[in-house]
Amino acid sequence: MKNKITLIATLSFGLEAVVKRELQALGFHNVHVSNGKVEIEATPEDIPTLNLWLRSADRILLKMGEFEAKDFDTLYEGTYALPWEEWIEEDGIFTVNGVSVNSTLESVPACQSIVKKAIVERLGDEYDTNWFQEDGAEFPVKVSIRKDIATLTLDTSGTGLNRRGYRIHAGPAPLKETLAAALVQLSFWRDERLLLDPMCGSGTILIEAAMIGRNIAPGLNRAFASEDWDRIPSTAWKQARDHARSSIISDKDLNLFGYDIDEEMIYASKSNAKAAGVAKDIVFEQKDIKELWIDQEHGIVVSNFPYGVKMGGYAELNNIYISLHKTFRNKLGWSLYVLTADKKFPDYFKRARPNKTRKLFNGALEVRYYQYFGEKPEQVEG
Ligand SMILES: C[S@@+](CC[C@H](N)C(=O)[O-])C[C@H]1O[C@@H](n2cnc3c(N)ncnc32)[C@H](O)[C@@H]1O
Repeated sequence: MKNKITLIATLSFGLEAVVKRELQALGFHNVHVSNGKVEIEATPEDIPTLNLWLRSADRILLKMGEFEAKDFDTLYEGTYALPWEEWIEEDGIFTVNGVSVNSTLESVPACQSIVKKAIVERLGDEYDTNWFQEDGAEFPVKVSIRKDIATLTLDTSGTGLNRRGYRIHAGPAPLKETLAAALVQLSFWRDERLLLDPMCGSGTILIEAAMIGRNIAPGLNRAFASEDWDRIPSTAWKQARDHARSSIISDKDLNLFGYDIDEEMIYASKSNAKAAGVAKDIVFEQKDIKELWIDQEHGIVVSNFPYGVKMGGYAELNNIYISLHKTFRNKLGWSLYVLTADKKFPDYFKRARPNKTRKLFNGALEVRYYQYFGEKPEQVEG
């Protein structure tokens, strides 16, 4: 049985470099980045570490194989040829999900049932049985066909990695936790610096920042599909969790502030922060951005602004932009990072043109991350 495996960290388009950096920080240097994913040369023992620690990836998939499949026979044969028995136990439950993009095999339900049939037959031959109880661990299989190349994977995460388990209350337009973690990492925030989200909703950005600042593994309080797989030694999960627990920095002061006009959102933020174990790290207060008063010379704003009519109408949005501009136009020591789908935002926030604009996706919605760099503390003071 091979000990070298290939894992695929799936991610939202635009976050490839962030996830690559996270992987390198975890000591994974043998990685290959392409659109929407990073492939990682790893061992089965690495599966717990990656699931527990990656902040901006969506899932960790185990790559079983990849081959060209333009017809059902080749899809069947290619699937049957893979060593499923090395991972899926005799009593394993396996569901097959699929996606097909720009490929000859268009019918996803048909591809799914071919793949299921091939795996059942392979396992039947290997385990010498034609009856499967299917009452053991779960092995979610995914068949992804892009430009006639089929990639077959097992999902080691189960529920998406954005589900950290702390978001008990969400607002009407919550940000995915994985994207919020990426936004913080794309800003130059360091844990001693002041970070403000003036429209914090359910607090996701600040909670993710606090978890980064205190080195809390984002997956520490949740379960993963592959925790019950025999192929991954249970000691590997235990060691990874013990290590994550002992890595938490408990004695650190963070400067994190979150405001929102909506009192209910402040309540939601506080209870989410409590569930994440970072309640004491963030000050949440009900406040309209029009009343925002800043007296510090330096700081960072990371915020996900309301978009368009859904949240209050365009006139209200313009007022928000104008308030932001008034507050920060002379605060050159402040960096601002604003995520919005409204392409008019830079016309209203006139302190300068954005230093950088990054195209990202909030779920299916295309958004822009406008980045305005502030002057560094020593430049202003010196
Ligand atoms: C897109 S949501 C932020 C979502 C947040 N990132 C999260 O993860 O839950 C925008 C937030 O802006 C708040 N908001 C709207 N107008 C505001 C204003 N004038 N001042 C402060 N907050 C405002 C809304 O109440 C809403 O919670």
